[in-house]
Amino acid sequence: MIMEKVTKVVWSDEYSTGNKEIDKQHKDLFDFIDKLDLCLEQELYFGPQVDALIGFLTAYTKSHFIYEEMCMRSRLCPVKEKNEKAHGAFIQYYQDFIQEYRYSDAPKELLEDLSQFLKKWLVDHICKIDVHLRDCIYGKVNRG
Ligand SMILES: [Fe+2]
Ligand SMILES: [Fe+2]
Repeated sequence: MIMEKVTKVVWSDEYSTGNKEIDKQHKDLFDFIDKLDLCLEQELYFGPQVDALIGFLTAYTKSHFIYEEMCMRSRLCPVKEKNEKAHGAFIQYYQDFIQEYRYSDAPKELLEDLSQFLKKWLVDHICKIDVHLRDCIYGKVNRG
């Protein structure tokens, strides 16, 4: 089966969670993907630039997930467990990626997979789960 490739994903209001810090962290992930794609375009699969990106994402997954989970818990967000479960799956994917990347002598496909995984995460996770925080902050808007 051929999976459709996701190209660039651009931040818009539909990604807004109503929490400025979380939105900023999400925008950092959009920027991260742009940088990763730039490395792929330049055929940079190893080296300091890629190492810096991997270092960033390792720290990001820890700090962003912890912060967001704390916000959802304090707001009694109904999707908080669903969010934490999805974060767990992300961390698992990323740990597997790190292991494979570390020992791979052909990491092009791995980095391409990571880019695709993250783009789908923006659309499937931020846009469908994280944004529920908006209703917990502002209350559900009755659109009649
Ligand atoms: Fe998030
Ligand atoms: Fe999340």
